[in-house]
Amino acid sequence: MKYVRDEIWKPQGDALTACHARWLTLGAFVHPSRRRFWYVPRRREVALFVQLAQHVSGRPDPLVVDVGCGLGLMSYLLAQEGCRVIALDASTAALDAARALYGDHPRITFVQGDVTELASRWGQEADGLFVSWVPPYARWGPALFGSGVPLVYVVGDPEATGSALAEEMGRYVRVLSYPTPAWHEVLGWLALLARGERPDPATTLTASNRHQVFLRADRAAPPSLDLPSAPPYPWEAELDALGLVPGTPTKDGVIWPF
Ligand SMILES: C[S@@+](CC[C@H](N)C(=O)[O-])C[C@H]1O[C@@H](n2cnc3c(N)ncnc32)[C@H](O)[C@@H]1O
Repeated sequence: MKYVRDEIWKPQGDALTACHARWLTLGAFVHPSRRRFWYVPRRREVALFVQLAQHVSGRPDPLVVDVGCGLGLMSYLLAQEGCRVIALDASTAALDAARALYGDHPRITFVQGDVTELASRWGQEADGLFVSWVPPYARWGPALFGSGVPLVYVVGDPEATGSALAEEMGRYVRVLSYPTPAWHEVLGWLALLARGERPDPATTLTASNRHQVFLRADRAAPPSLDLPSAPPYPWEAELDALGLVPGTPTKDGVIWPF
């Protein structure tokens, strides 16, 4: 799994990077108004993070930072679930694109900056950090985990997340870890379906998108989670139609086994 290369994830001044170009393409798929499928997050996953953030904050509207918000879809979904969201990105171009999509949302504040410089300021303030596909954590993982923010949720390629996070485990306890299919896998599936083939998840899908939830070690364990029975996002039906539903066995485990 070497599809994540350091250099394509680095913000480069005001220019849209290859990473952003890719995310813009993906954004066209995932923007809720397009009603197209998406691989993650499903409402269940967003609700999970929000419930944990409400637990650690004791508030219905926890303050969360969407670290490396890119085009801002996660910020939007978190805000829709009631969070107050700081949408942070180092790239002004990404933020401009995110503002164009979600700029009028009353609970989202857009901030331009580098997480390695800003993370410490949220230690006292923010209830949770949401980090979706901002590798490599080896570089900014220590800043995130050094911030002291009670809840950290990371989503991404386990190769880009695992080892650096593990080093910080003394201060945080990993309360959840589960795989979902990564978007390139789902796109691969669609390509196979378009050719009339019927892929078998147990042999073709690695479900390499790993979600890991960390809680600061001095915080009380979360209560048993009571996920709301809200209707799924529109694109989830299309995802379900692919057979990629919770419980689907794959080469590397079972999707959403929590
Ligand atoms: C692959 S995108 C992920 C976007 C979004 N989180 C998502 O899941 O759709 C990675 C984003 O992280 C941002 N980024 C990379 N390094 C950063 C840093 N040190 N501080 C803040 N943002 C950063 C990039 O500009 C880019 O927008």
